Amino acid sequence: MAIQITPSILNADLSRLADEVARIPSADWVHVDVMDNHFVPNLTIGLPVVESLAQATDLPIDTHLMIEDPDRWAPAYAEAGAGSVTFHAEAAKAPVRLARELRAKGARASMALKPATSVEPYADMLGELDMLLIMTVEPGFGGQKFLDACLPKIRRARELVSEAGLELWLQVDGGVSLETIGRCAEAGADVFVAGSAVYSAEDPDAVVEELRKLAT
Ligand code: DX5
Ligand code: ZN
Repeated sequence: MAIQITPSILNADLSRLADEVARIPSADWVHVDVMDNHFVPNLTIGLPVVESLAQATDLPIDTHLMIEDPDRWAPAYAEAGAGSVTFHAEAAKAPVRLARELRAKGARASMALKPATSVEPYADMLGELDMLLIMTVEPGFGGQKFLDACLPKIRRARELVSEAGLELWLQVDGGVSLETIGRCAEAGADVFVAGSAVYSAEDPDAVVEELRKLAT
């Protein structure tokens, strides 16, 4: 199980996006939070920015779509060059069909669960996914406090993945920091989003390396 660090650019200087991504060369992916002000009470960036960023960096792009109607909008992110596309279980009408469509377009298919959404109802469809994102804050904003109440779900998801013998990656997102990443890794996560912990630091790449060490 390889550890991967995927910094979120939500708390970066968005007027200098390519430069900000160049500050994290040790990252495995760059995590881009797309919010539509409907699924979550915040509005960020969308398809044209992902298209431009894909041209401007060699890092693969991990898009996290906090949007309504991902069945309609998510495939375009795969076409725009995102290596991984995450839609929310709570928003998707036909998650299996959508995951298959994302894979057919060449992206890794990923599904996210908000803190109050259980993993069990999705146990039988995990084989359709390349990654499961377990939110450890309510989605919508960076800089929130890590919810320890989500740790048992990470453990349950890891058990389901092991029992089924799947290659599925388990990503955590929200409040992941030097202080909390160890707990997430211990519970079974292997892909770690960190926004404010990375971009509030003087040397973001040093924090990426530090997080990796603490998760290993
Ligand atoms: C929150 C986003 C996160 C956010 C993480 O809804 O999905 O990716 O940027 O930021 P931190 O690490 O500051 O919680
Ligand atoms: Zn995110």
